[in-house]
Amino acid sequence: MGIKPTILIVDDDPGARQSLEVILEDEYHILSAGSGAEALEIFQKESVDLILLDVNMPGMDGLEVLRRIKELDETVDVIMVSALNLARKAVDAIRLGAYDYITKPYEPDDILSTVNRAISQQKLHRELDFLRGEVEASRGFDQIISQNKSMLEIFELIKKVALTTTNVLITGESGTGKELVARAIHRQGSWRKGPFVAINCAAIPSELMESEMFGHEKGAFTGAHTRTIGKFEHANGGTLFLDEVSALRSDLQAKLLRVLQEKEIERVGSNKPIKVDIRVISATNINLEEAVKKEKFRQDLYFRLNVVPIFIPPLRARKEDMPLLVNHFIRKFNNLFHKNILGVTEKALDALNQYHWPGNIRELENLIERIVVLSSEGEWIDIKHIPLDILMDAKQSIQEMTEKEKGFIRIREAVERRIILNVLEACQWNQTETARILKIHRNTLLQKAKQLGIQFKKGEG
Ligand SMILES: Nc1ncnc2c1ncn2[C@@H]1O[C@H](COP(=O)(O)OP(=O)(O)OP(=O)(O)O)[C@@H](O)[C@H]1O
Ligand SMILES: [Mg+2]
Repeated sequence: MGIKPTILIVDDDPGARQSLEVILEDEYHILSAGSGAEALEIFQKESVDLILLDVNMPGMDGLEVLRRIKELDETVDVIMVSALNLARKAVDAIRLGAYDYITKPYEPDDILSTVNRAISQQKLHRELDFLRGEVEASRGFDQIISQNKSMLEIFELIKKVALTTTNVLITGESGTGKELVARAIHRQGSWRKGPFVAINCAAIPSELMESEMFGHEKGAFTGAHTRTIGKFEHANGGTLFLDEVSALRSDLQAKLLRVLQEKEIERVGSNKPIKVDIRVISATNINLEEAVKKEKFRQDLYFRLNVVPIFIPPLRARKEDMPLLVNHFIRKFNNLFHKNILGVTEKALDALNQYHWPGNIRELENLIERIVVLSSEGEWIDIKHIPLDILMDAKQSIQEMTEKEKGFIRIREAVERRIILNVLEACQWNQTETARILKIHRNTLLQKAKQLGIQFKKGEG
């Protein structure tokens, strides 16, 4: 067992302090203070993970204590505890940076679940920050690799737009690096210390989307057992990345538009506006202008999101990047899997260059990952490592292959067929799921299935 996280309980009423202590002491190390002044004193001396802070105290009240604590350490999580008639103050506290609030009288379970959630999120964030920092700093793998002219223009644009708070719309095919560009804008901007929060509008069922975006109050709908903060509030002071924004349902498009205009949100089940200060970067791999013409996407919202447009060209339109990217990914996966692949041969590079890359850089990255994992130490990536569907696009290279290389490909085809069939069976022939597990684009799966003579039964997909 690790060390217990420390919670500081601040309340002028000894009875209230004690009842919180009883609820929390099994899982947490408890410190307590009977006044704001005492709390500040303890906070400066001790390492505190979370503060439970009473709103209504004589002398320095909860909001003032919160303000001073945040001046000392803006990252510490504070949960406000307030009487129901003071809930308004608790909402103000959220604006001042409190993590959450609980109203009295409370259920012990509410306290425990709110505290547990805050602590486990802290842990997760720390781990993620740490890992991200490690990976990014030591390897430079957050870099956007390119020497393509349009991409170099995008780099310039990223620098400029990073200094502003304008909304940005990034378009480009799947896997072209839209999220990478969004993160680069965030990181180079003056808001980089703020959060970067991504929300995938296509991945969340639309009935849950509103609460995902704006949060909800306890009891706002069946199953809303606790109050939950939405992504917009989490992104406050930073960047909100709206991925696949075209998938947003029309009523939510209207709500989003209003939020962008008013710069405030309302949680589901509440009509209290909460100020949010965020930059929105959205991304889409469909043509939003077309969607507007077909009345699938609101024009006024499109204009709001698309203040600065960035179009990322597909990989097949920037072949000059191929050697850079391949070597970049070889280095990355050598590092990750402790391998020693030396590089890529001319022939293999030619074949890669002739392929049309429907899944773009993600597809290339996944391919190099698989090759690096499967190849022997000290090898070069050669034509024999390149899957058949890619070679089919590069017929010349096939003619130049030796008998030995062709034999190798036949063996690999048999193995691939077996693997694909096994995964398909395991996923009840669900193509999307199978493609996900195999880390290939669904189109690639379909092409491969065709080449390898795998037939889908009617109505499956
Ligand atoms: N220019 C680049 N240099 C290095 N890595 C890149 C580059 N572009 C994309 N990648 C890598 O390719 C993968 C896909 O990129 P990203 O997720 O940003 O694409 P996307 O456009 O958001 O894709 P999707 O539309 O499928 O969500 C990531 O692992 C990313 O790091
Ligand atoms: Mg993406």
